[in-house]
Amino acid sequence: MRTIEWDKGIVTTFDQTKLPHEEKILEIKNLDQMVEAIKNMRVRGAPLLGASAAYGLALTAYNSTTNSKKALLTELDLSAKTLKATRPTAVNLFWAIDRILKKVNDSNKSLKETKDLVIQEAQAISDEDVKANRSIGKHGAELINDGDVILTHCNAGALATVEYGTALGVVRAAWEQGKKIKVIATETRPLLQGARLTVYELKRDGIPVKLITDSMVGFVIQKNMVNKVVVGADRIVKDAIINKIGTFGLAVIAHEHNVPFYVAAPKSTFDLNKKSQEIIIEERKHEEVTHFGSKLIAPFGVKVFNPAFDITPYKYVSAIIHEDGIFFKKDFKTF
Ligand code: MRU
Repeated sequence: MRTIEWDKGIVTTFDQTKLPHEEKILEIKNLDQMVEAIKNMRVRGAPLLGASAAYGLALTAYNSTTNSKKALLTELDLSAKTLKATRPTAVNLFWAIDRILKKVNDSNKSLKETKDLVIQEAQAISDEDVKANRSIGKHGAELINDGDVILTHCNAGALATVEYGTALGVVRAAWEQGKKIKVIATETRPLLQGARLTVYELKRDGIPVKLITDSMVGFVIQKNMVNKVVVGADRIVKDAIINKIGTFGLAVIAHEHNVPFYVAAPKSTFDLNKKSQEIIIEERKHEEVTHFGSKLIAPFGVKVFNPAFDITPYKYVSAIIHEDGIFFKKDFKTF
């Protein structure tokens, strides 16, 4: 399942806010529509945010009517600023934008060639993500045994990437190797990426999955119902991994019960020059907590705190699976 595609100035992707009940295909034709889709989480997940931002720049280039290269570069810079102001935590978005800007600024190409270059580079970012996820799956599957029950949080599947997924890439690869695994998916409050998206993906593939609420994690791990935890990441920094809110608590519980806690992410998620305290943890709107769908579930006007991500120090991480192999505990010291 390819999550995002480009064809002659039209980006097609799923509107993930509608899943699992409606498989609505979004057609994104300009930068404003891409910015709206990112902010409102119609597209989401770190690698897909990178690909989406890249296509946002590709749309700027494709739609530009200027006849000066200098003006095109200014338009691209402005689009980059707008895209960078959408969601602050997943580094892939910033990485993809900076990669494209560097490519065009370093080149000596004509106006037409520069436009083509932006589009080609956006396509390359997507294609490379697919390859990276396949490799992550291959490496990660080595850590999975026949019969394992794997717990995952949020959605780090095909829907969070361009195809195949990171954490779910590991699950898929192990399954494709014939290992009889089962998955436990946390619902992932408040936006239910686990319940809505992870379960949807796994059911489509016929991989056995059981859904739990986030608060059941301690109990199921204590009851020896989980052999391994595998999650994705939004940013991997010098001292920690940053991922969906709830990941830290899950990692501490896994550590307490000697259950391996694996993180699966491409190199585009690594930001090793930064420490966790320097990273902006996105805070999202209060309605995501006070409402369930459109229904108000808390007394009107209650104060709310709604951070979208949390920070898991390396103490709790057993290994990081990436496209070129696996980093184990000893490697984290070299970060
Ligand atoms: O807020 P979201 O849905 O964009 O958050 C997604 C996650 O936290 C994923 O675990 C992470 O991006 C890794 S996706 C391969």
